[in-house]
Amino acid sequence: MRLYVNIDHVATIREARKTDEPDPVQAAAAAERAGADGITVHLREDRRHIQDADVTALARSVRTVLNLELGAHTDIVRFATRLKPFQATLVPEKRQEITTEGGLALRTGDRRLRGAIAQLRDAGIRVSLFIDPSLKTIDVARALGVPAIELHTGKYANASKRRASNELRPNKALNELRKAAAHAKSIGLAVHAGHGLTYQNVQPVAAIPEIEELNIGHSIVSNAVFWGMEEAVRRMVQLLKP
Ligand code: PXP
Repeated sequence: MRLYVNIDHVATIREARKTDEPDPVQAAAAAERAGADGITVHLREDRRHIQDADVTALARSVRTVLNLELGAHTDIVRFATRLKPFQATLVPEKRQEITTEGGLALRTGDRRLRGAIAQLRDAGIRVSLFIDPSLKTIDVARALGVPAIELHTGKYANASKRRASNELRPNKALNELRKAAAHAKSIGLAVHAGHGLTYQNVQPVAAIPEIEELNIGHSIVSNAVFWGMEEAVRRMVQLLKP
């Protein structure tokens, strides 16, 4: 299992003061020292946390690999094709949302998405699509010709919260993830997963054999406040071991 650490919220803290600390480049280096297999950042259209200059600096400094999350916006796709991160994960983006709320609503006839996939692929970037764990959506992802998908684990994560209502059932959501991962792998897609994963809920997802990569941000950065970035990543790496 590969762990890609999402460091957006290091930039969220910096942007709260519009100053120059904490530095995402330093956070990425600490995560890598502690065993992260990759660094993930989301360059949002509203630039609320990660800035273009961060992505440029990370593309130079990251020693593992950079996974750039982005919406299919012309300027950001163009920026990505110039920067050439190892991987680009296309995500849906709404300006008002607190975080990425659902997976991409995929349609084979979506010209904007098809164009973004083609541009990224032609630049030599591995393309992944962030989608809900629905078998139909997985088939559309396959038809769009990408090598990988990232399954949205938000529903499972919400159901696992201590304060979750009784209607939310973590086992049901986990079974959906299991079925989705098996189906995606059986039709040739690499399977990634992420969103809302924490030290408490990550292990059942990490145990799904078809999932090869997890993207985790909020929980790691939150706990880094108490433990430091290296220790927070080390503890997550430890939990992902079979
Ligand atoms: N994967 C994707 C596609 C995301 O958009 C995010 C949030 O930026 C994550 C994973 C990480 O989610 P979290 O911060 O809840 O761990």
